[in-house]
Amino acid sequence: MLRTRFTQAFGIDHPIVMGGMQWVGRAPLVAAVANAGALGFLTALTQSSPEDLAREIGRVRDLTDKPFGVNLTILPTMRPPPYQEYRRAIIESGVTIVETAGHRPQEHVDDLKAAGVRVIHKCTAVRHALVAERMGVDAISIDGFECAGHPGEDDIPGLVLIPAAADKLKIPMIASGGFADGRGLLAALALGADGINMGTRFLATRECAIHENVKQKILASDERDTNLIFRKLKNTARVGRNPVSDEVVAILSRPDATFEDVAHLVAGQRGRAVMEQGDLTAGLYWAGQAQGLIHDIPSVGELVTRIVGEARSLLEGRLAGLFGAASGVAS
Ligand SMILES: Cc1cc2nc3c(=O)[nH]c(=O)nc-3n(C[C@H](O)[C@H](O)[C@H](O)COP(=O)(O)O)c2cc1C
Repeated sequence: MLRTRFTQAFGIDHPIVMGGMQWVGRAPLVAAVANAGALGFLTALTQSSPEDLAREIGRVRDLTDKPFGVNLTILPTMRPPPYQEYRRAIIESGVTIVETAGHRPQEHVDDLKAAGVRVIHKCTAVRHALVAERMGVDAISIDGFECAGHPGEDDIPGLVLIPAAADKLKIPMIASGGFADGRGLLAALALGADGINMGTRFLATRECAIHENVKQKILASDERDTNLIFRKLKNTARVGRNPVSDEVVAILSRPDATFEDVAHLVAGQRGRAVMEQGDLTAGLYWAGQAQGLIHDIPSVGELVTRIVGEARSLLEGRLAGLFGAASGVAS
């Protein structure tokens, strides 16, 4: 057990979170994370309707009696999903923790808080974190430039973003983006975070139901194997490097290119085919720079135990030794 303000606020054993992941955050994985003493989120929009989401919440409850949550990602899209109905399904199912991500979460935060739900808002900038804190969220998850998904447009890596946020926020904060092991957990705590959030690392676990080809691709990739797409559209996304993301980058680098020129390549259903059928050339798949730190496919339980154990050994071993050694130099 590793106690922080975050574990105490959310009733979990270890300050480790698995954030929402489209086509990935389903019941068996979320329950495995909960049973490991960490906090996992179902991804609301992976379910094709609010009714399916309510059923998926029930499936998690069949597999664990530990805390878990639901991620609600607010996308800047022309045809938005029925957010209000997804939110209702979350509240009426008695879920007590929600991770919000994306633009203008106010309406969702107000409604969720009024229903007694604790909200963790995920964002990529200190100024956005402060707005969310003022909105009344219970915790912040702050995503550095290393992360899979949407790192924002400021390009601030965790090494600066985390302490900069910690200096200003009063509520608990978890650090996200680029974390995969105990070194990262301990570093995040040292930088002022109350825990870590991971996405890419959880993809390469036994309980994660994505196709084995994607897991092997993550193991074979290093920290350089991502692409930043949609930069010129100011909706930057970090995805795994493959022929499709290379092509999207190439097309959008043309001065007159627009979203329409790549729409056929980036469709969500094509990304779903990568994850579920294992055809790595079918579309985009989200993955972060943490790929360079992932070398095996443990169970979720083994992973969480290992990360906490590594952080502890590092703190009590090498780091303690550094300060304790008689160097002959005045401290
Ligand atoms: C496959 C995949 C799908 C993701 N989908 C979502 C999503 O739907 N909503 C969301 O808020 N974040 C999403 N994320 C971001 C993660 O929740 C998390 O913030 C991010 O992965 C952290 O960075 P890391 O991958 O370096 O650990 C996704 C990440 C991955 C790897």
